[in-house]
Amino acid sequence: MICEASALAEGGDGVRFDWPPAGGEGKAFAVRHDGEVRAFVNRCPHLGVELDWQPGRFFEESGLYLVCSTHGAIFEPDTGRCIAGPCRGARLEAIAVREREGRILVQDEPTEPVNGSGFPEDT
Ligand code: FES
Repeated sequence: MICEASALAEGGDGVRFDWPPAGGEGKAFAVRHDGEVRAFVNRCPHLGVELDWQPGRFFEESGLYLVCSTHGAIFEPDTGRCIAGPCRGARLEAIAVREREGRILVQDEPTEPVNGSGFPEDT
């Protein structure tokens, strides 16, 4: 599980998580835009640095676009495409995620049992 769904407000702070999930060295992040949760590897296509200027701060002031804190590249939150800045036309690496029963999960992640049966709810 990445986080509780309530942790992601529209255009608000994002949630950072390890990527790949099994003890990976990298970081990724999830944000909410247009009601949908979007997740990307936290690596700017320009120089490979993390985007957030403070942990979890991925949106620029309007809350409509993602921004790289290093040189100000602007990205579409729905596609990850850079529309302004030094890496214009490049894309953030997207991660498929899903929202289910109040939780944000990586797409292939089994749903954790919540009823004590020991079996995933949906496989
Ligand atoms: S490192 Fe992100 S815009 Fe330069």
